[in-house]
Amino acid sequence: MIGHMISIIALAFLTTFLARYFNLAYLLGFHLVIYNQHPGPCRIVPGIDRGSEDITVTSHGLAFISSGLYPYRYIFDPTVALHPTPGKIFLFDFNHPNERIQELHLIGNFDRDNFYPHGISLHEDTDEIRLFVVNHFENNTDAVIIFRFNEKEKSLSHLKTITGKTMYSVNDVLAVGPESCYYTNDRYSITPFGRKYEIILNLELGNIGFYEPRGKDRIVASGYQAPNGINTSPDGRYLYVASSRHQYITVFERKSDNYLNEVQRINVHTGVDNIEVDRESGDLWLGCHPIPALLPEYMANLTKRVGSHVLKVHFDSSDAPYSDVDIQQVLMDDGTLVSGSSVASFYNNKMLIGTVVDKMAYCEIKNT
Ligand SMILES: *[C@@H]1O[C@H](CO)[C@@H](O)[C@H](O)[C@H]1NC(C)=O
Ligand SMILES: *[C@@H]1O[C@H](CO)[C@@H](O)[C@H](O)[C@H]1NC(C)=O
Repeated sequence: MIGHMISIIALAFLTTFLARYFNLAYLLGFHLVIYNQHPGPCRIVPGIDRGSEDITVTSHGLAFISSGLYPYRYIFDPTVALHPTPGKIFLFDFNHPNERIQELHLIGNFDRDNFYPHGISLHEDTDEIRLFVVNHFENNTDAVIIFRFNEKEKSLSHLKTITGKTMYSVNDVLAVGPESCYYTNDRYSITPFGRKYEIILNLELGNIGFYEPRGKDRIVASGYQAPNGINTSPDGRYLYVASSRHQYITVFERKSDNYLNEVQRINVHTGVDNIEVDRESGDLWLGCHPIPALLPEYMANLTKRVGSHVLKVHFDSSDAPYSDVDIQQVLMDDGTLVSGSSVASFYNNKMLIGTVVDKMAYCEIKNT
């Protein structure tokens, strides 16, 4: 009898383990093959070599690009990790796509040598454009730095560096006011060991924080697997957060006290990284990792190029939960053109594809 019980329990454990294991193997995409598909003519934009992890575009078609992700936490290739150089912010003009990109001068009282930008977000007012930048300092402190964009001088003036107890593994930021923002913490652990096992065990320990000058910083939603890219619907009522490994987007309703209320999960079946939103249509543009299994090897040796994947998500209405979610594949690339896509930014039938540590691609969109 006892022996029988033990075998039932053992079988239950084995089944659970196998289910988890196969689910993980499936999500990692070991079985996938990439067939190239481009939406029109595509090319590499010269001038960027150390990543274009996040891209965001103004209502007039100026795209900001963050380049030079923190090597100690994300990139283990010795050619980068042993020779870290501070990151940069570049500017690309969708209205003049053949002109050279420009590096923006960073001015003001902040530690230029300690600049390793990650997620970025824009706040546009009638007379001012602000850029919010997630920064990883070398001492392992994370911050959101707010800059003012000076269009004539092509520079960014430092206004404020925000740090806080709830900003410890910040991946992306969403500006919602001149000095207030949401941000994602993609891990709960800050030690390399904890960070690794949190992912291997598929734990849902990430969270989303909110900062405002008068209320300081606080967590407003928690219990998500590696929250990554964050963005908002054009009307500001909903927030979208990507969970890369579990391959879904969570739709949140923003409450009047700025806490977030989950209203829907959308499975995208690919390693979704950053989310850009087309202001006119409300469509989501997703930069994704089609075969996440290959990413660790790639981060350890950047010659082992990986695939790129871009999806467009269209909703039937402006009220969530969305009943009809139409997901289209815009681009799939085996890494020959562009390796490790993390973001796709759309403007007027053109698109930029940014990458975690590689170059940036530009495509005209003719056939979707
Ligand atoms: C880490 O470095 C930044 C920039 O130099 C500084 O603002 C912050 O206080 C430092 N944090 C710690 C814990 O030393
Ligand atoms: C990276 O991989 C290539 C083969 O793809 C190999 O030749 C090279 O030695 C590797 N570099 C390191 C640092 O391991």
